[in-house]
Amino acid sequence: MTVRIAPSLLAADFRRLGEDIAVCEAGGADWIHVDVMDGRFVPTLSFGSKVIEAARRSTALTIDVHLMVIEPERYFEEFVRAGADVLTIHAEAAPHLDRQLMHIKELGCKAGVALNPATPLAVIEEVAHLLDVLLIMTVNPGYGGQKFIEYSVDKITRARYLLDQADSAAILEVDGGISRDTIVRCWEAGADTFVAGNAIFSAQHPQSEIGVLRGLCTETA
Ligand code: DX5
Ligand code: ZN
Repeated sequence: MTVRIAPSLLAADFRRLGEDIAVCEAGGADWIHVDVMDGRFVPTLSFGSKVIEAARRSTALTIDVHLMVIEPERYFEEFVRAGADVLTIHAEAAPHLDRQLMHIKELGCKAGVALNPATPLAVIEEVAHLLDVLLIMTVNPGYGGQKFIEYSVDKITRARYLLDQADSAAILEVDGGISRDTIVRCWEAGADTFVAGNAIFSAQHPQSEIGVLRGLCTETA
């Protein structure tokens, strides 16, 4: 299985976003993770299409947009125009998953569903075949730098099983508290794509940290 490392821009230095993205690229990042927060679905605000656009102008890497917003469909067109390659919506904020996943795909984007730690996997069971990405949150969404929730490892194992049973080729992504201490457990449980904010941008050498995180997985492959 391929390991994808997706640095989260939430932990980048916004005075020099372009340079931080270049560091990620130089370090071999696969995706650039962009966290959109609306102050409704999650308590705080982050940013929207201007930052997606800036990221798009800075890199050819996949722009992975995580929508922590209510009524996410209001933003699909705008974010695709801004350069998003993946749009991931929260099941808790989007009751019409079938319609919304189809809408995202029609716009030529990869479609993902994210689940909060307390949300059961059963909510995506019927649409597993439509998913390009399943994002398992390993913290409660809203902030970077939180502590990894240990019980989510078991959920990743069950998510892998569910996708395999459904014959789904969906990418299994994890987000929140991913670091040298937690990444291997997620990888062994079946995740293949790892969002990391603080672990990368607060590292002494952000560029080489990407390779370190990847190496921890491939060593145990
Ligand atoms: C949290 C966001 C994450 C966040 C991860 O709500 O979805 O993408 O940036 O940050 P770390 O890796 O620092 O936990
Ligand atoms: Zn995220």
